[in-house]
Amino acid sequence: MKFFIDTANLDQIKEAQALGILDGVTTNPSLMAKEGITGHDNILKHYKAICDIVDGDVSAEVVSTDFEGMIKEGEALADLHPQIVVKVPMIKEGLKAIAYFTEQGIRTNCTLVFSIGQALLAAKAGATYVSPFIGRLDDISTDGLVLIEDIRTVYDNYEYETQILAASVRHTMHIVECAKIGADVMTGPLNAIEGLLKHPLTDSGLEKFLADYAKGNS
Ligand code: E4P
Repeated sequence: MKFFIDTANLDQIKEAQALGILDGVTTNPSLMAKEGITGHDNILKHYKAICDIVDGDVSAEVVSTDFEGMIKEGEALADLHPQIVVKVPMIKEGLKAIAYFTEQGIRTNCTLVFSIGQALLAAKAGATYVSPFIGRLDDISTDGLVLIEDIRTVYDNYEYETQILAASVRHTMHIVECAKIGADVMTGPLNAIEGLLKHPLTDSGLEKFLADYAKGNS
């Protein structure tokens, strides 16, 4: 499973990259605003800065909601850096834009996906990634992981190449469950990724090893 970090914070991206397990980054307009990155030119500069830190795919979201606007924005984003994947919302105009980008060889991430039907459409339009938001489904008392399972089944039934990018991952167990289901990618915060490292038996075992080593060397 590929690991993406879901942030626009450069320090956290650097930290995740230093772990040696990072495969890419996802951002969205809210994550950019959270870092105080506003204005078209600053946002483009920030995407470039992210691409300079990581080796993998970096999702950059369009903010137009009409087909022409999405095309113009998406083409400019794709021209910015070869690592950019154009993130497009799952609305009617977005679906048309994804189909257009697919024909042009521009990679896409279909975002704000909350149902199997939406995921099916994204795959038919040729999206590179589909982003079902599991945490936001959990927030409204609907099991987000069930959606990941269902999309896996549907995509496997028809051998769609669109990669399932489990998004809105909120905690470590989401990552573990996504891996068990067979999501192709997960995107989550640094603390959820680092949670995978932790085990009390690792800590107590290491403490004992180091204490025994110190005895032999004193
Ligand atoms: C996905 O690409 C989105 O940026 C993200 O995962 C949304 O997560 P949230 O529901 O925690 O805001």
